[in-house]
Amino acid sequence: SAAEKDGYDYFMLKEIAEQPKAVADTLLGRIDGSGVLSLDEVRISEEVLREVDKVVIVACGTAYHAGMIAKYAIEHWTRIPCETELASEFRYRDPILDRRTLVIAISQSGETMDTLMALRHAREQGAKVLAICNTNGSTIPRESDAVLYTHAGPEVAVASTKAFLTQLVACYLVALYLAQVRGNKWGDEIRDVVRELAAIGDQVRQVLGTMEPVRELARGLADKNTVLFLGRHVGYPVALEGALKLKELAYMHAEGFAAGELKHGPIALIEDDVPVVVVVPSPRGRSVLHDKIVSNIQEIRARGARTIVIAEEGDEAVVPYADHLVRIPRTPVLLQPMVSAVPLQVFACELATARGNEVDQPRNLAKSVTVE
Ligand code: AGP
Repeated sequence: SAAEKDGYDYFMLKEIAEQPKAVADTLLGRIDGSGVLSLDEVRISEEVLREVDKVVIVACGTAYHAGMIAKYAIEHWTRIPCETELASEFRYRDPILDRRTLVIAISQSGETMDTLMALRHAREQGAKVLAICNTNGSTIPRESDAVLYTHAGPEVAVASTKAFLTQLVACYLVALYLAQVRGNKWGDEIRDVVRELAAIGDQVRQVLGTMEPVRELARGLADKNTVLFLGRHVGYPVALEGALKLKELAYMHAEGFAAGELKHGPIALIEDDVPVVVVVPSPRGRSVLHDKIVSNIQEIRARGARTIVIAEEGDEAVVPYADHLVRIPRTPVLLQPMVSAVPLQVFACELATARGNEVDQPRNLAKSVTVE
């Protein structure tokens, strides 16, 4: 009913709007004033966590994209090797697991069969499993050694939005917690990140307040057949997520690429007026990547692409090559996905509406996939 949707036309719109609160709720009570994390719910002893020599993340769909991003954060902050794998592929390749492996299973519903089977396999091999889940008491947390709940509140729309952002928050909390218990160099960077994580909710709110041009752009692309997405570093999984949203909601052909791979094939797809969304890394920190992506934008535009550029405030280098420019607030490099994913959600939702599709219940999809 309209009341359940809080006056929004779709649950998806309501859930997109709830993201600042979902992010804040997921952080609540987990970091104290001096930046120390307490994750009491994670009932895996500090001793076991200190012994971990490999992290493996398993998940499907949007949760898998959150896991792909988490890999960058976990390796950067903890120096523990981390791999992220599609849950449906994981157990079929005889993965190397033992009691020093920490497996993180990410699932909004907690009922995804592929993810459940992956975690069962991991536990059989002696690995410890930590679930990151949004649904209290669901099967995946019940069968895991420990759980860190995302506090996104119920997500009704089939297309995941607020669960994704809170999965990122939870993954980052786990990464920072691992760094803390293992005594990794607790440098200024990590202290800053903890502080800036607390500011992300407000930055998401800021992005949400500037989305009208994105909606207008989406309406103008309703008769296109394909949209491409490019990103690098943590922006690469964001590109994949932007493409997934578009497939699910707009039923359009959409593909995400790592921008560095363009020249290895996908650039052949660029033709006149094909829309290409580019998620631009921060010009600070990873400035080499920034410069490289700016030349990618230049290249595809010279070949006729219509460039839709998502870039930080103050990033002037992209301006001459952007047919459409979407500004996002400055964040630390690893936190950018939490703000850059938001315009892509709004874009896909508006395109779906413009194409007359059912936003909350896309064809052929179910909210949770309980078969393998
Ligand atoms: C996201 O928009 C999708 N509907 C889908 O990819 C989803 O993220 C995936 O099926 C995993 O679901 P889960 O998080 O409930 O395990």
